[in-house]
Amino acid sequence: MEIVICKTKEEASRKAAEMITAAVKKNPKVVLGLATGSTPVPMYKEMAKAVKAKKVSYKQVRTWNLDEYWGLPGTHDQSYRYFMDKNLFDFIDIKKSNTHVLNGLAKDWRKECAAYEAQIKKAGGIDIQVLGIGSDGHIAFNEPGSSLASRTRMVSLTPQTIKDNARFFKKAADVPQHALSMGVGSIMEAKKVILLAFGKNKAAAVAAAVEGGISQYCTASALQMHQDAWFFCDEEAASKLKLKKYYAWRAEGELARA
Ligand code: GLP
Repeated sequence: MEIVICKTKEEASRKAAEMITAAVKKNPKVVLGLATGSTPVPMYKEMAKAVKAKKVSYKQVRTWNLDEYWGLPGTHDQSYRYFMDKNLFDFIDIKKSNTHVLNGLAKDWRKECAAYEAQIKKAGGIDIQVLGIGSDGHIAFNEPGSSLASRTRMVSLTPQTIKDNARFFKKAADVPQHALSMGVGSIMEAKKVILLAFGKNKAAAVAAAVEGGISQYCTASALQMHQDAWFFCDEEAASKLKLKKYYAWRAEGELARA
């Protein structure tokens, strides 16, 4: 696990975007796993900037998103498909047919989840997985209590996540209570992981994920077992890390080598 601590979320987003841009340049057919939420938005803006400046092209890139609310059509303005279109895909030269988001209206969610995993496997697996982190330490919608071996499936959201995400809906009662989500086990198969965390609301989750025990109570802690996981944090999100000075010193060298 490498922890990159930046003064601002803008700087952290720029560094994370540089890592993705470099990977796409190196392998124009790279397979990306993408995340929603407010956290990756500044990084997506940086990625779009690089496309606009013709530094990189996403024409052959394929993407799979982590999760989708159950019961929302992709046209709903709070669906994750809609979010991805409006925050990234509409601003890069990717083929929409190469972008994949779980179908929140699938007739048979088991089939939908199994087919999604099969598609990723056929594509050769995820090369880089982008993640945010919930205030309770969840990744994708793997709430506390999710098995660290879990696969893509239907999940029940916690009251905390419903509360956290209510800011995007008119009222808390409008937030779906279920979602389809890639599992912790599915995420752990990505070759590289980039997790972004900003703000003091994420400080406890980041500390538990990085320095706590590996536990289904904080599903991001599974990343301690990943061989190539990078946390990009601002100072607030990193504020509860005991070893933050060491991580900052170490990351400089690791970033130069990455
Ligand atoms: C949701 C998403 C997660 C995301 C989290 C945090 O629960 N399923 O993928 O990491 O929200 O969102 P935000 O970045 O807005 O804090």
